[in-house]
Amino acid sequence: MTVMTKRLLNYDWNGVQLPSTGLAPEALQELSPQLISARDEVIADVDLWNSNGAVPAEKAPLDAGFIEMPERLLAEYNSQRETSELQQILTASRRLSESVDRVVLLGIGGSYMGARALMECCNHPYHNELNRAQRGGVPRLYFEGNNVDNDATNGLLDLVRGAPATNVDDAWGIVVISKSGGTLETAVSLRVFLEALRDSCAHDEGLIADRVIPVTGTSGKLFELAQAIGCPDIFKVPDGVGGRFSVLSAVGLIPAAILGLDVVKLLEGAAAMTEHFRTAPPCDNRVLDYVGVCHLMEDQRMANLRVLSVWSKALESVGLWYDQLLAESIGKQERGATPLTVLNTRDLHSRAQQHQEGTRDKLFTNIVLDDYRTDPITVTASALNQDELNSIAGKTMPDLMKAAFDGTNAAYKDDGRPTADIRLPDTSEYSLGQLLQMLMLATVVEGRLIGINPYGQPGVEGYKQHMKKNLGM
Ligand code: PA5
Repeated sequence: MTVMTKRLLNYDWNGVQLPSTGLAPEALQELSPQLISARDEVIADVDLWNSNGAVPAEKAPLDAGFIEMPERLLAEYNSQRETSELQQILTASRRLSESVDRVVLLGIGGSYMGARALMECCNHPYHNELNRAQRGGVPRLYFEGNNVDNDATNGLLDLVRGAPATNVDDAWGIVVISKSGGTLETAVSLRVFLEALRDSCAHDEGLIADRVIPVTGTSGKLFELAQAIGCPDIFKVPDGVGGRFSVLSAVGLIPAAILGLDVVKLLEGAAAMTEHFRTAPPCDNRVLDYVGVCHLMEDQRMANLRVLSVWSKALESVGLWYDQLLAESIGKQERGATPLTVLNTRDLHSRAQQHQEGTRDKLFTNIVLDDYRTDPITVTASALNQDELNSIAGKTMPDLMKAAFDGTNAAYKDDGRPTADIRLPDTSEYSLGQLLQMLMLATVVEGRLIGINPYGQPGVEGYKQHMKKNLGM
């Protein structure tokens, strides 16, 4: 496959092999049989899913559809271009993108966190502040429907309410995403924003329908509402793909395409990671090695707090997406490591004290960039040297970041605090596709390794039931 010719992200666990952690260098090798067996089970899950046969009770729910989805979408796009799902996603996204200047994305959990990660990783960091030409002719994107926060909702309504739908610079639209179609936060927000959109469109039913793209199941309340509105395109959250595993389906691809991101590259990166996962041996397999190290640290060294330290602001939302992925997938049966995303160097000034000297219950996994999107900023020499920075004149921000990164790892190593690194080649769509797929695969492998079903989130129902009862629903 051509996709394999591109550079894979790297995973390096040398930092974990500290004498004080008690993890022997051979530990990962010794875990290999269990890791291979967990990988086999994950691959067998895909076969079981593809067979459309009955899912045995101990495997239900089984949402293994995300694993082959990037390859499937690409293959269909390459062989049946015009009728393919990916082409339909691109066409509908372009239609909305070309006709509005603001898009409000309504969704919660897995129905929004992936889109936000894609936007913040691959876009200009101040995308919404740029004018349309600077944005490459694509709309601004805002996230709501992920809360019932009165002031935040009114704040966004202030931006869009009343804006006439007649010219692109004022017009706005809605992408509403809910697999179940019944999530209260999203449903209430849709009702509120739809009302505002009706006013903006002067109650022109055809225009309103054009300005709403729903992504949902093939039945349910949102599906029915979308049909009643008359939306020309209703996209599916594929069967067998759980919310937090859906970022590479229409759920993430539509917002990505609206923003003009290269969704083919995104899928190619993910497909390359799946291929690597299937074929590379343990100790040279990014997915299995990551799972193995996390598991050994938890099992043998009680490191049940997984700190994901991202070393770029562009990656903070990827970390938050991963927090949900790990927490909802593995946090079951009174088990499961706790994820925590930190953004460095920012959080070195808020959390580093505890990480350096607090309880020894943490594994630090850094995500660090090999390459930046923009030219390096250099510290210049100045006649005003009261800040004493002339000693580092000529150094760049990436030099400073590297010094901080190496320094933090060294400080943790000096004190026997285990670290591992994921080296991301850059913040391109291709690299991000790899990273997202690596973390999703790792999550299901870990579930199979420790006997926890990574799919489904039965615990989330508790709050929903109480909330609905409180509302008399
Ligand atoms: O991972 C999941 O399945 C959840 O986080 C859901 O994405 C979240 O609860 C939203 O559900 P829905 O898409 O049905 O509105």
